[in-house]
Amino acid sequence: MNITTLNKVFLDVFHVLPKHAFFAPGRINLIGEHTDYNGGHVFPCAITYGTYAVARKREDQLVRLYSENFPDKGIIEFNLNELTFDQKHNWANYPKGMIRYIMEAGYEIPTGFECAIEGDIPNGAGLSSSASIELLTGVLVNGLYGLEIPRLDLIKIGKRVENEFIGVNSGIMDQFAVGMGMKDAGILLDCQTLRYEYAPIQLDDYKILIMNTNKRRELADSKYNERRSECDQALELLQQKLSIDALGQLTEEEFTENQHLIANETIRRRAKHAVYENIRTLKALNELKGGNLEAFGRLMNESHISLRDDYEVTGVELDSLVEAAWKQPGVIGARMTGAGFGGCAIAIVENSEVENFITNVGAAYQGKIGYSADFYVASIGDGAKEIALESVK
Ligand code: GLA
Repeated sequence: MNITTLNKVFLDVFHVLPKHAFFAPGRINLIGEHTDYNGGHVFPCAITYGTYAVARKREDQLVRLYSENFPDKGIIEFNLNELTFDQKHNWANYPKGMIRYIMEAGYEIPTGFECAIEGDIPNGAGLSSSASIELLTGVLVNGLYGLEIPRLDLIKIGKRVENEFIGVNSGIMDQFAVGMGMKDAGILLDCQTLRYEYAPIQLDDYKILIMNTNKRRELADSKYNERRSECDQALELLQQKLSIDALGQLTEEEFTENQHLIANETIRRRAKHAVYENIRTLKALNELKGGNLEAFGRLMNESHISLRDDYEVTGVELDSLVEAAWKQPGVIGARMTGAGFGGCAIAIVENSEVENFITNVGAAYQGKIGYSADFYVASIGDGAKEIALESVK
């Protein structure tokens, strides 16, 4: 994938040349899963896989969008005066929602535009292709119309699109990682206060591998919302005694002392995950800062076990990949990443073992699940930005 090819696509589809180019990454989360909507910490990073766009302003009020990933959908067209969700507009509802909420926030988008998009984030893999399109649209209108929308506002608008326009009740991690990513750094984000810090990630002798279950995530949204409401119930019960606003404010000890307030055993386990995972994330950052990668890896493993046994969002596909990964030589740690119920896992693997790892884990997965997994080496890259537009050759 490169911009020169996308320029040709744009020329073919719109019969003129684009004037600007943009990129927004996907993300992986290293640790801190299902903690963002519980006011806890997350530790994601942007990856170099992402979504590219080339674009040009129009004179009228039309927005015309084309995606090389969904060529059968053709050009999707709408007017700046009618920015409502429309099922048949498919993927274009993400840019549409962004444009609508950016305008509602008081920014002027005086004309429509044409845009061609192409992404190399594996489809439906839980690597935040939707947050990538949201932030891509944000930097695109910023660039085309010189709007100077602060980055954090774009991130919040992206989350609003997901929650209100699309109807997925997700937290802020994905948009934050895609919007604020930095090459070779993870972002430790406190989701309650939105305070954050970058932590350099230099894995000289190791690679981060992404393992894709290739499992369709059909149940993901309903189960995701179910977990959110289970955590809300737990919080309410704890609030009978404790003055807290979020599960992420509890220490392990405070939770242990007060867990009897949650009579239902399932709800108690959900809350336990949220509390312990948050603390684990802070411990993991400290280990990384201290150069103790082995300890970081052990915390990744514990995170997966907690997501498997207490939060119950892994499933046989993710468990098979991760459990096979744990058995391989040269593996520092492995866990699911993102919402779960399919999608991707990650593993930190010694350079010299990567090939073996892929062969062995791939075979174990195929043997157990009956179809194959995909493996990609992740590089940590920058957040959403305007990039140089090369001319069509
Ligand atoms: C999805 C959501 C995020 C976060 C993760 C789980 O990726 O979009 O907000 O809740 O799941 O950590």
